[in-house]
Order: sequence, then C-alpha cells, then structure tokens
Amino acid sequence: MTDASHFEAHARKIIARCRKLATFSEDATGTRRTFLSSPMRDCHREIAEWLRASGAKVSVDAAGNLRGFYAATEAAAPRLLIGSHLDTVPNAGAFDGVLGVVLAVALLECLDPRRLPFSVEVLGFSEEEGVRFGVPFIGSRALVGRVDEELLNRRDGNGVSVGEAIRVVGLNPADMPQAARTDDVLAFLEFHIEQGPVLDALERPLGVVEAIVAQTREEFRFAGQANHAGTTPMHLRHDALAGAAEWMAAVERTARSRPGLVATVGQVEAKPGAVNVIPGTVRMTLDVRHRSPETCADAVDSLSKEAKQIADRRGLEVTERRLLEQKAVPMDDFLVGQIEKTIRGIGCDPHRMTSGAGHDAMILAEKVPAAMIFLRSPGGISHDPAESVLDEDVAKALECGLCLLDQLARSSEFLKRTCRA
Ligand code: HGY
Ligand code: MN
Ligand code: MN
Repeated sequence: MTDASHFEAHARKIIARCRKLATFSEDATGTRRTFLSSPMRDCHREIAEWLRASGAKVSVDAAGNLRGFYAATEAAAPRLLIGSHLDTVPNAGAFDGVLGVVLAVALLECLDPRRLPFSVEVLGFSEEEGVRFGVPFIGSRALVGRVDEELLNRRDGNGVSVGEAIRVVGLNPADMPQAARTDDVLAFLEFHIEQGPVLDALERPLGVVEAIVAQTREEFRFAGQANHAGTTPMHLRHDALAGAAEWMAAVERTARSRPGLVATVGQVEAKPGAVNVIPGTVRMTLDVRHRSPETCADAVDSLSKEAKQIADRRGLEVTERRLLEQKAVPMDDFLVGQIEKTIRGIGCDPHRMTSGAGHDAMILAEKVPAAMIFLRSPGGISHDPAESVLDEDVAKALECGLCLLDQLARSSEFLKRTCRA
C-alpha cells in the first residue's frame, strides 16, 4: 500500500469514527454532548479502547478530560500534548473538536510501537463550548490551573454545580491540581476544522493559525412590564422584547460598521412567552469578536451604552453580566514555522490565518507554547449537522502530523525547550 493510499485509508477510518462518536448524544435527534454527561462517558469508553490498542495509558482527570499517555523512549522525557474538545454545541456537526482528538489517536496508531524523545499525551477536553454551565473552556482551564471555586459552584439549568457533576461520576475536584501539571510540557498542538470559508475559497486543505481572536460573551436582561396584549395601547407599553429587538438591530449595525468585527445574539428568551402577553422580561446573550482586543472591548462598550439608551426611552430596566472575556492569543512562532515547513514538505501550500473561532489552544497558550493546524471546512459550514471534512484533507492532516512529530523529534531547537521544562 503506498503512503498516500495508507493515509487515505486511515482518513476514512478517522471520519467514520467521528461520525460514530456523533451518535453519542443527549438528544434523540442531532448531536448534543455536554460536560460529563452519559453520552460523554460513552465517548470516553470508545476512545479509550482505541487509545489502549495503540499502546497508550488511559485516564480521566478531575476536570473530566480524557487523557491517553503514549510513553517516550526515556521515562523522564517531556510531554507533547495533542488534542481538542469532545463536547459539542446543540445540533452539532460531527467534527468540531472531536476530529482533533480522533486525529491525535490516529497519530499514535501510526507511531506505535515507535517511540519518540518526548511522550505524546492525547487530550479530549471535557467542555469547550460552554453549553451546560454557560461558561466555556472548563477542561482546558484545568490544565492551566484556572478551575476555581467560582467555576466549581456554577450551576446548570437543573441546579447541578460543576463540582457536583464531577463528583457524581466518581471524580474528585480536590484532585484538580494534578490536572494542572505543565512544567514538563513542550507544547500543545490542536488539529481543528476551520469552521469558516477561508481555506475552502483558497482551495487549500490545511491552514496554520497565527492567532485566535479576542472574544467577549455577555448576558443582557431587559425588564419591562408584562401586560395584556389586547387591552394595552401601544403608547402605554413597556415591552421588553420590543426593546431587545431594537437593540439587536444595533448589534448588527455596530458589527457591520467595523471591518473584521463580528457580533452575535445567539440566545433570546422572552417571558412569560405567551401569545397574548406583552413580554415582561427578556434574557439574551451577546458574543463579540475581533483580532484586536481594543476593538472588541470598544464594541461591547458602545452596545452596552446603546442598550441603556433604548431601555431609558422605553421605560425598561437593562442589566448585563459578563460571561467571558478572552483576549486575542498569538500562537507560538516557532511551532507556526515548523507547521508551515511540514505542510510544504507534504506538497501543500500552507496558509497562515487568524481563527475567528475560540479554541482550547488559546487557554493552553497561557502556560505552554500552543499551535493549531486547520483543516478546510467545505462550504465554510460549522456548528451544524452539515459540517464536513474531505477524506483527502484528513489524509493530508495525518501525514502532516506524523511528519511534524518526526521533525520536532529531530529539532534541537524544540528539544532544547526541555531545559525549560
Ligand atoms: O465559539 C467558538 O468559537 C467555539 O466553537 N467554541
Ligand atoms: Mn465549536
Ligand atoms: Mn471547537
């Protein structure tokens, strides 16, 4: 079997595995998998089998991250982390996050039984999207020591806290410090679908991420006066949803006014939610991103002022709560260069780009050198069942990953970093 057909065959297996994992869902139709849910535990069992078969030691840390440790030639060697997240958005595609974990497992399968001068630890992060508790990156925050009491006490829609969700599956939040050991880590690599239109438009299979944009998430609540839809004249109303709708138009106007800025209202919940009642309260979310943290902060600030002006004019109250403030994060220069060289080495044209999506790599980058390799998203679709990848791109990503491991294993510059460890 030629190298190319070997990688193509492995790519088909990787895609089939991602599609199988997509069936592990909390919903009867569509894929939704959140922090330490039962389908997440099924996912762990399935991937653990693949990991053990490729010679890795499997564990789950106190933050619910699945780990597969593939030893180096020497016991005391440093670690290279490769992985992504296993949780999903509601009605998700089959590749966001999961592909990065399944590709990492495939790298071990291709390596086995060969050993490198560094160990490879595959990571399946427990929660990156933030669906269950409204706060993202729980899994990767554990690796940089940022799972604090505030986070452990956050509750989901059923009143279950993060800490309780950890204990109920037999894990112990008190063990969190073990998850945060990174002094022996050389780097973190994340393979991920681009989730946007850039590589597809350029007709390139792989991209290398230079930076991940700044991101602010907020919750806004408009409060007015619920009232009878039939008897309340328009000029006497304090309609929370009408005010929220006026503000949503301002969100779109603001985002369109600045190049590269994106702003999204993803959740809107009007109460009491009856056809014949004027909405008294509205809860909504705001997601603002830009590669410049200043532009991002400035946009959030101006939208906050606009919400207050609209509320004052309509006799409403408006409150806001910050859910996430993530600064823009550059990827590690040395690793970006190494990835670019590897992509060229396998006969592809690399494309350096900024990630508009947030990723665990931006959290790991707080403590260890981090880098990302993007795979083309056909049609630029993601966070939807129509999300896909091409066999040949997955084959190229696998080939690139293996060449990169060999290149790093031969790189005195990279291994010199072990002194840092
Ligand atoms: O929202 C994001 O950028 C990522 O998909 N969690
Ligand atoms: Mn996502
Ligand atoms: Mn993702």
